[in-house]
Amino acid sequence: MDIQSLLAAATDGHGAVNPWAAVAYLVSGVFFILALRGLSSPASSQRGNRFGMIGMTIAVVTTLVTHVPMKIGDATNSYVGIDAVAMAEILAAIGIGAVIGIVMARRIAMTAMPQLVAAFHSLVGLAAVAVAAAAYLNPLAFGIADAAGQIYTVSRIEMGLGIAIGAITFSGSVIAFLKLNGNMSGAPIMLPARHVINLGTLAAIIGLVAYFTFDQSPWVFWTVTALSFLIGFLLIIPIGGADMPVVVSMLNSYSGWAAAAMGFTLGNTAMIITGALVGSSGAILSYIMCRAMNRSFISVIAGGFGGDDAAAGAGGAKEQRPWKPGSADDAAFLMSQAENVIIVPGYGMAVAQAQHALREMGDLLKKEGVNVKYAIHPVAGRMPGHMNVLLAEANVPYDEVFELEDINGEFAQCDVAFVIGANDVTNPSAKTDKSSPIYGMPVLDVEKAKTVLFVKRSMGGVGYAGVDNDVFYMDQTMMLLGDAKKMADDIVKALNGGGH
Ligand code: TAP
Repeated sequence: MDIQSLLAAATDGHGAVNPWAAVAYLVSGVFFILALRGLSSPASSQRGNRFGMIGMTIAVVTTLVTHVPMKIGDATNSYVGIDAVAMAEILAAIGIGAVIGIVMARRIAMTAMPQLVAAFHSLVGLAAVAVAAAAYLNPLAFGIADAAGQIYTVSRIEMGLGIAIGAITFSGSVIAFLKLNGNMSGAPIMLPARHVINLGTLAAIIGLVAYFTFDQSPWVFWTVTALSFLIGFLLIIPIGGADMPVVVSMLNSYSGWAAAAMGFTLGNTAMIITGALVGSSGAILSYIMCRAMNRSFISVIAGGFGGDDAAAGAGGAKEQRPWKPGSADDAAFLMSQAENVIIVPGYGMAVAQAQHALREMGDLLKKEGVNVKYAIHPVAGRMPGHMNVLLAEANVPYDEVFELEDINGEFAQCDVAFVIGANDVTNPSAKTDKSSPIYGMPVLDVEKAKTVLFVKRSMGGVGYAGVDNDVFYMDQTMMLLGDAKKMADDIVKALNGGGH
């Protein structure tokens, strides 16, 4: 295809879709669907990632080929050709982004993944805002306005939604990042009259987006932008630590819808397909997480709507109560004498990278004839499936790993619950204390076991939600204070050397 026909096929505005590009975008969409399918299980996740990479490569190459930046001559110069400077800028931007992405992916610790995801979502939101602003400032270049510069009504709606969702995603994700990264307290921050402020701001955004279809004045556009940045911030600050997983998946969904809205503005089918896939799969994940946390979707979206203000103050309350210390030798002895042991891993196991030592411990106990099972809470750790991935990496057999609803009934019959680096997900106050920020969240019933062995580094440390845990002070609990990996290694040594 020569440059003239390329130009004609690809750059005559919004509606004109190059049929080859449409087919290529469709193929990339199929790869994205295969990617999502692959990512649904740890065993096929690498394949899923590969499909995603192929889909994205096809989409990017297609967009580049069909949108080659062109330079067209003026009255005295009839030059038509590739704009080498613009092309070099695009390739340089892709190259810089790729290098940053590769370095971050190699360096990032597994435990820092949620904040990285939140940071990525914020960039998607910001990109949506930038595209909408560019299209607003130069609508003719995007083919979304008539000769007089009046932006088409449908484009104004797309643009209004794109800027609103994009700005909410950006500021919400920045707050989520700061909370997950520990730069901001994980405790909910409750503004007085926040529901009135939030509802008023949301109503103003919706009203102004509707008004924008009649009046494309700059003040309308920029007010929608400013209010959307504000509401993203207001919606996320009241959300407490334990609800952050739902927030991250919700922002994931928003980032998808923001990308889809951008796709409409740019007339790019691949972005519409990908955005809709991310948006809907994020919404489904949020729904699943809400069910696992026993939270209503609406209350989380409305920003801590259900939580009462007393909950905000509950974080960090700690008492001086008697507790029993224990050692690795005690733990090895108790577990080797047990018939049933249920291991409950949590965030601390991930930080300490104790999964291999833990699997070794499980293997040794099994050799002694102990029945060993692993209990996984849906939000244990800091991302969905965090524990499953780590245990799979350490080759713990899948049939020893159980979800909360499948194993919770077994704690009452088990001899030892071995809690390693988990805290919130075992806290019984979620069942009884209405003022607790985790009230209503289903928890693993470790307190029902005959003996609880609780591994953590110090009595001072709290879980993510910042609340004290009654299990530490129960008669049948023995606190094994120390790093999770060191403790598991020491128990393995004791089991090996103890000759039980
Ligand atoms: P947490 O409640 O965060 O408790 C972690 C425990 O590990 C703490 O008791 C901590 O006590 C201990 N710990 C930390 N480092 C350790 C180490 N090196 N060795 C031994 N112990 C260590 O963890 P959880 O029970 O897994 O609960 C997860 C929490 O995170 C929930 O509140 C959940 O809502 C939230 N969250 C989850 C997700 C997802 S999707 N899973 C995402 C964001 C937030 P010390 O400091 O005393 O050692």
